[in-house]
Amino acid sequence: MELRELGFSETTYSETILSIKLGRETNAAPIGVLLGGENRLILKIYSGGKTYRMFLGGAEDCVVNITDNPILFYQSIFEKNRVRFIPARKVSSPRIGGCYAYVECEVETIVEYRDYIRVLLNSVLVEVCGGGVKTYNRAGPAIIEALVHYTKLPHYMSVDLGEAEEILRRIRVFTDIVSHSTKDSMLRSIAYRILRESENIFVTQRRSS
Ligand SMILES: Cc1cc2nc3c(=O)[nH]c(=O)nc-3n(C[C@H](O)[C@H](O)[C@H](O)COP(=O)(O)O)c2cc1C
Repeated sequence: MELRELGFSETTYSETILSIKLGRETNAAPIGVLLGGENRLILKIYSGGKTYRMFLGGAEDCVVNITDNPILFYQSIFEKNRVRFIPARKVSSPRIGGCYAYVECEVETIVEYRDYIRVLLNSVLVEVCGGGVKTYNRAGPAIIEALVHYTKLPHYMSVDLGEAEEILRRIRVFTDIVSHSTKDSMLRSIAYRILRESENIFVTQRRSS
């Protein structure tokens, strides 16, 4: 299957979960992906994280895991030890169990910038495991949006307190959307935890600056 048919685009980020292995270490993290031509994907990875270190440390491949499950996005930030890895077919990095589709990739080039790297991936295997048509719900996207904002917060706390405050305000809105659009106690507790942790970062880092 073509990467474009899976939804990858040159202009709009596809939000995925990237799994990667270097030596005996494996990791999973949500990462936005752009199409970079036939069989190619492009990542922009900011410095400071494990994925960044593993690419620069020489990881040769990775898997782009395709899912819209907010719990998998949440676990790959807050509960990494609960992520269920399964073997891939053509690369050494593992897949994450329970996703719709997998793109197994080899690292082609890495370009280093001041505070990020751009990684060009060559896809060596695309496998679709199913999923089908589903109705849209507001809770999942709101949780994923809250996670994006949560991961941006530490950076803005050190460079722009006004923007950090705005990020926290938005996380409150996303939490509100989750609590109004689902009765699922797991999804609600995830949203409340993201808000709680964000408020913690805001209060403790502001006190220490
Ligand atoms: C939906 C979503 C998309 C994200 N996309 C990126 C991205 O493209 N690049 C990046 O550096 N961080 C991105 N992040 C933030 C990382 O996932 C986050 O910083 C994570 O904690 C890094 O994990 P690591 O330290 O294990 O690499 C994204 C977060 C979410 C929730």
